[in-house]
Amino acid sequence: MDYLVLINRASAPVEHGEGERERLLPVGGTDVFLERQAACALERLMERIDGWRAIVPVSGWRSGKEQKQIWEESLRENGMEFTRTYVALPGHSEHESGLAVDLGLKKDVIDFIRPDFPYDGICGVFRELAPDYGFIERYPRGKEAVTGIGHEPWHFRYIGTPHARILTESGLVLEEYAAQLSAEEGNVERVYRKRATCETFYKMPSGEVPVRRGERTTYRRRCGI
Ligand code: DAL
Ligand code: ZN
Repeated sequence: MDYLVLINRASAPVEHGEGERERLLPVGGTDVFLERQAACALERLMERIDGWRAIVPVSGWRSGKEQKQIWEESLRENGMEFTRTYVALPGHSEHESGLAVDLGLKKDVIDFIRPDFPYDGICGVFRELAPDYGFIERYPRGKEAVTGIGHEPWHFRYIGTPHARILTESGLVLEEYAAQLSAEEGNVERVYRKRATCETFYKMPSGEVPVRRGERTTYRRRCGI
């Protein structure tokens, strides 16, 4: 699975295959499913912050048919402008890949398209740690023209580590991050496993190499790996 895959209005439509449900796991004890690695990372983070006591997974993997239903229903109820802002075109939603999750504060009534997920409290704690578990806030305020989607504080996308931390700290969105990576030849990721130590070397466009050991990420100049 390419966890850095760019899915947006301009990308090729997400392919739905026969066996795709086998790659999914439920999260938060609900019937919301995510791709396995994304699901495990989310569960680890939620366990660390006891997140499921106050947060619910509102939407995860969607079939092509579900995305189409959501689009059409929103079009009827909310009109084209709202729908284009907050619902991806069928075939072009990250939810169809199983790599995106919408999270909301536990409440009696939860808005399915725009759940409440503020920047403070337990949601703020989640946001701080999310990049260390491979998740990014995919549609930040101020980048609407680049992503083609409105500000969505509730939508998190799994891209894996160390990318999520690098992207978040650089203030880029996935469109910009992916363009930088693909503009640079020879990006490499090498993982060495020695007992519990795992190092990921990744050549960045600037020539810097993020070096990750356990929970700690440091940066050093490229050194000919
Ligand atoms: N709400 C996001 C953009 C989606 O429908 O994938
Ligand atoms: Zn979403």
